[in-house]
Amino acid sequence: MTVSSPELKLELPPLQLGPITVDTPVILAPMAGITNKAFRRLCREYGGGLYVSEMVTSRALVERSPESLRIIEHDDDELVRSVQLYGVDPVTVGAAVRILVEEDRADHIDLNFGCPVPKVTRKGGGSALPWKLDLFTAIVQTAVKEASRGNIPLTIKMRKGIDEDHLTFLEAGRIARDSGVAAVALHGRTASQFYSGKADWNAIAELREALPDVPVLGNGDIWSAEDAIAMVRQTGVDGVVIGRGCQGRPWLFGDLQAAFEGSDTRHRPGLKEVSDSVYRHAELLVETFGGEMMALRDIRKHMAWYFKGYVVGGDLRAQLATVPTLAVLRELLDQLDPEAPYPGVDAEGPRGRAGSPKKTALPENWLESRELNAAQKSIISAAELNISGG
Ligand SMILES: Cc1cc2nc3c(=O)[nH]c(=O)nc-3n(C[C@H](O)[C@H](O)[C@H](O)COP(=O)(O)O)c2cc1C
Repeated sequence: MTVSSPELKLELPPLQLGPITVDTPVILAPMAGITNKAFRRLCREYGGGLYVSEMVTSRALVERSPESLRIIEHDDDELVRSVQLYGVDPVTVGAAVRILVEEDRADHIDLNFGCPVPKVTRKGGGSALPWKLDLFTAIVQTAVKEASRGNIPLTIKMRKGIDEDHLTFLEAGRIARDSGVAAVALHGRTASQFYSGKADWNAIAELREALPDVPVLGNGDIWSAEDAIAMVRQTGVDGVVIGRGCQGRPWLFGDLQAAFEGSDTRHRPGLKEVSDSVYRHAELLVETFGGEMMALRDIRKHMAWYFKGYVVGGDLRAQLATVPTLAVLRELLDQLDPEAPYPGVDAEGPRGRAGSPKKTALPENWLESRELNAAQKSIISAAELNISGG
């Protein structure tokens, strides 16, 4: 069901990423464990935009681990095959980009400089990395050079910095721009905030102003099309990056497309439509993982997001959260009231990861200088681990 809302609307031009035109300037944020082929398809069915894969580590890709090859697989009708790479060593990142380009496995590559997970930052990776200007510059320059051989646009995604006393986004943005990236995305939080507090849209506006000559994409706390419009109005960004807001709400991409085309039509699904999406999501996961076991294990984490705010009994919720097979999923979903309407604000707002702020784990003496010392160089070359993060 769709309804019209008299809320804000705004028209935003297509987003240009090198040779790629993204008609709806909306990006599905890379999310490890979420933005696999199945979820990307589900989102794509509702609206336009660019849909980024889960991050893949450069090392795993270079070693061609089966999991890394699964992550970078795309459906035949994914016209822009977008891959996010994580890496801490320029040579390995360069080699991973080369594989993607030479083997024609991607049309867009994003580099992850936003991951706040301790096992990543402790090794100098993710959101800890832009602090080291020499390393950050070397990675971005190498990646852009390799990507340009295939005319593939390369973008970066980062946080504001390590903490409020160690901000990196303006310098990193300028370095990335000077290195020839196609766009810069900023999640308006520091690493030490993890997912707590509110994303700082003023920092996004500051970056937009500092980099007039490259597209800037804003990320953080967009839970609705109205939020997306508000971010564009407040910051002037060229596109928005949507993470947790679409968890359990793939139809948000329909709302976003409508909003950016100046329409105030919004999806307000009743329980039947939600339940149909859950089942379809599970079926697509079965295809993606090639079997029910992994697929059903994966769909369980989505249940609370899908049914947030809907009338679903406690027992049924518990059973959905441990559903073992597609057949049982069908039986459970059939117990829901197909007439139950959209519950309104209870189904909206924040969802997914939150957490509390904590000091960022870093390699020894990391903050003392903006350049790598000898000990840190050896940590970095040993740090190309097979991790998955966020
Ligand atoms: C479950 C989960 C996994 C994530 N994985 C990644 C990732 O692989 N790469 C990345 O750059 N960011 C990752 N992120 C961060 C998101 O891309 C996004 O920057 C963040 O959630 C803030 O946007 P939001 O407020 O719209 O959720 C992850 C976030 C979540 C919640």
